[in-house]
Amino acid sequence: MTTYYSEELIQSVIEANDIVDVASGYMTLKRVGNSFKGKCPFHNEKTASFTVSREKQLYHCFGCGAGGNVITFIMEMEKLPFVDALKFLAARVNMILPEKSNQQEDHQVYEKKKRLYELHREAANYYYKMLKTSKLAREYLLQRGISQETIRAFGLGYASEDWGRLTDFLNTKGFSTADMLDSGLVMASENKRHYDRFRSRVMFPIVNPRGQIVGFGGRLMATDQNGPKYLNSPETTIFSKSYELYNLNHCKNFLDDGRIVIVEGYMDVISLYEKGIKNTVAALGTAFTPFHGKILERYAGEVVIAFDGDNAGKSATEKAMKILKNTSLNVKILSLPTNEDPDSFVQRYGQQGFKDAVSKALTIVEYELELLKGHNDLSQTDGRLRYGNEAIKILRQLETSVEVDYYSKMVAGETGINQEVIRREVLRSKTRAENPSPLVEITRDAVLLQKIPKAYQKAQELAIRYCLERPETINEFPMDYLTEPFYKDLLLTLFEKRKAGEKIEVNQIMSHFDASEDVKKIVEFMMNEDEVSRSDYQDALEIMNRFYNEAQLDKLSEQIKRESANGNDDAVAGLTNQLIEIKKMMKENGRH
Ligand code: UTP
Ligand code: MN
Repeated sequence: MTTYYSEELIQSVIEANDIVDVASGYMTLKRVGNSFKGKCPFHNEKTASFTVSREKQLYHCFGCGAGGNVITFIMEMEKLPFVDALKFLAARVNMILPEKSNQQEDHQVYEKKKRLYELHREAANYYYKMLKTSKLAREYLLQRGISQETIRAFGLGYASEDWGRLTDFLNTKGFSTADMLDSGLVMASENKRHYDRFRSRVMFPIVNPRGQIVGFGGRLMATDQNGPKYLNSPETTIFSKSYELYNLNHCKNFLDDGRIVIVEGYMDVISLYEKGIKNTVAALGTAFTPFHGKILERYAGEVVIAFDGDNAGKSATEKAMKILKNTSLNVKILSLPTNEDPDSFVQRYGQQGFKDAVSKALTIVEYELELLKGHNDLSQTDGRLRYGNEAIKILRQLETSVEVDYYSKMVAGETGINQEVIRREVLRSKTRAENPSPLVEITRDAVLLQKIPKAYQKAQELAIRYCLERPETINEFPMDYLTEPFYKDLLLTLFEKRKAGEKIEVNQIMSHFDASEDVKKIVEFMMNEDEVSRSDYQDALEIMNRFYNEAQLDKLSEQIKRESANGNDDAVAGLTNQLIEIKKMMKENGRH
């Protein structure tokens, strides 16, 4: 690659940036002998085959073959062209590279982001200083048990009740109106007047793992104030809620046991930190997404979901569980009492109390069994039988026969059903799932079409191609309909590139995949010259939708047959209702 910078200069940037330190900003690396190992950030893997050598200042993945030096690492991770990766690394160690005018489009995106990071940094400093001037805000934090030290660690601040103080401040710092508006911190009214988004709120800066401030959350201090309790930054070039995790920047430094605790709120994170529990993250005013799962995979081996004990928390737990089942992470669930969240729990029971609860967190199977137990009266025979039958289905998701054995014994103890019978039923239904009838089996919300109908496959590929051509539609893509993990990975990659404000280049996407069939498939998708229209795309989605629903219907009717043969009337009634709902929905869709 030809650049304007001399070899010497490039070399000095490389030497100033230790590759182990740089890579540690993006993943968890463990020392193994003379090198460092971690889970490869460039492909999906369960084992750590990504190796970094401090001595050689190089990285290599034995799984996918990715490899290079600190510059190629940043090019890949930050999706930057060479020169910008060089600048990124120079900035990291406070080196200043001479500017070159006349750079290309990518460069402008990079410069824009850089200005937005700076703007956020200034805004955070400003809010932080404002906190010192507001007795009300300081007392609020104090009363919630937050020390000065924790305020500093999180850079907490205060936005005053005035409408334009931040806007004025940013003006004096010389930021353009366009940058201010693009940051989301400044808004424009209909008559083009500019004003602050956040007013009368305690401010929580959102910091990414590289230490850059990308957005804010702001909390009202009193219940009689107008507006939502928490207000968050909108989506911007540098901030996406479905991607960022609060506190990952601290959390990644406290992962000695490879475990991350996922909580719901800003205050849960901060309160736990105050009590010395620092390996926590929270999603930001949004549901937990597959992207979050993907990111956590890079840092942790185990995650513990510790959501609020109320019903909203329980249903959020179910959703997060479903997503995390599809990762390589070991997933545990900590159920809190109904009226507690991690914040109140740790205030009440202290650090040790919370740690004990974490160590007693349930596996997914145990959690599902607990729920099931809640729905059945085990003091009655029919309750025990119903529980036993349903439990067998839950045990099907176990991966090893050792686990099957262990839990079969447990359920046997609870129900009085013979352990061997349970074990055999679990294994029997497992093999039934693995050697499918020509029906469609639905697992984990996705259609696993064992015999993928041609029409479905065609529709699916067409929809993916549409999405590749128009990455702006990625957010609306029904990921649940994808039949292959590879397709999901492809669209996730696409999403990340889009988030980085980057062009979608075939060879760049390819480098994320190691299997040659996958690469071939991508090339095929990208090289296809046939235009896919919006209406083709919508037709494709409709076809997928129909197959998906029909698959569900087939599955339900099979279950109904099975349950009525067992004389399980309650189950039959429930399943029949589901069946009717789906039919109704299909009829409605058919009308449009
Ligand atoms: P919670 O209400 O559980 O937050 O909402 P919390 O952190 O426990 O708040 P405190 O203890 O009352 O101060 C969980 C998360 O949902 C988002 C925020 O990210 C919050 O931390 N949220 C909640 C919003 O975005 N807007 C809201 O109005 C409320
Ligand atoms: Mn709370």
